[in-house]
Amino acid sequence: MGPGLPEPAGGLPSFSLAGRCALVTGASGGLGEHFAQLLSAAGARVWLAARRVERLRSLECRLRAQQTQADSVAIDVTCAQSVAQAFDAMAAHGCVPDLVVNNAGIGLGTPALETPEHDWDRVVDTNLKGAWLVATESARRLVAAGLGGSIVNVASILGQRVQPAVAPYAASKAGLVHLTRALALEWARHGIRVNALCPGYIVTDINRDFLNSEPGDRLRRRIPQRRFGRACDLDGPLLLLASDAGRYMTGAVVAADGGHLVSGL
Ligand SMILES: NC(=O)c1ccc[n+]([C@@H]2O[C@H](COP(=O)([O-])OP(=O)(O)OC[C@H]3O[C@@H](n4cnc5c(N)ncnc54)[C@H](OP(=O)(O)O)[C@@H]3O)[C@@H](O)[C@H]2O)c1
Repeated sequence: MGPGLPEPAGGLPSFSLAGRCALVTGASGGLGEHFAQLLSAAGARVWLAARRVERLRSLECRLRAQQTQADSVAIDVTCAQSVAQAFDAMAAHGCVPDLVVNNAGIGLGTPALETPEHDWDRVVDTNLKGAWLVATESARRLVAAGLGGSIVNVASILGQRVQPAVAPYAASKAGLVHLTRALALEWARHGIRVNALCPGYIVTDINRDFLNSEPGDRLRRRIPQRRFGRACDLDGPLLLLASDAGRYMTGAVVAADGGHLVSGL
């Protein structure tokens, strides 16, 4: 510990998010919906963001029924104007999110030679440019308010290794991993931590049929833990990156994948 730096408080680390204001993009289904419920249960006021606002409203009602603070805001992460409007809407309620989960993302399962340019654009605009727009808008407002915060970019193990037929997706997630490091370096001085969470294959509505199929089963057998993940397998890593328990972590790339990244070649 250098001279003049405060000693961290002793005792067990706190994973509580009480007093925090969280924004979860892509909260209208899948992992984002689960993450929003988790952050809410950990004490945060949660803003649910996506394009399908009617789905957000239904989750908002369920969260409010549990006496937690939840609100919805429309966002298209590929559009700078839409992102700015979403942050303006939160600001109108006195909220500058100090926890952002950049979860909105899309995938494609097409061989590279059959992937048209507009599919590349859709995937990269959502997964990489979208995370950039949300992260920079959020950091700009945090810095202006003199607040620190935590940004968690939901990348993928496909940002670190590859499979056939996912080239734009894998490239976008690899870009997101490196963007995480670049932003962590620039924003540490502002007290803003930026980390990446790289899930392995997690069962959600969009991939359940494939993961339960014969090719899915072959994939499962290559995972060292021999099982696909459940959304709740990401709870510990996300809370670590989000909360004060991870206060000395920034620029980290955390995989939660049953060992898939270390499977034998
Ligand atoms: N499931 C997995 O196995 C897995 C593994 C590794 C990484 N991931 C990553 O985890 C994240 C969530 O995946 P998921 O499995 O939960 O997928 P999902 O069920 O398809 O959910 C994707 C979410 O992203 C939102 N979204 C898409 N385009 C958007 C846009 N332009 N603006 C705002 N929101 C947008 C969708 O909401 P609207 O359509 O309502 O806008 C939806 O809520 C993604 O980034 C994905 O790459 C998933």
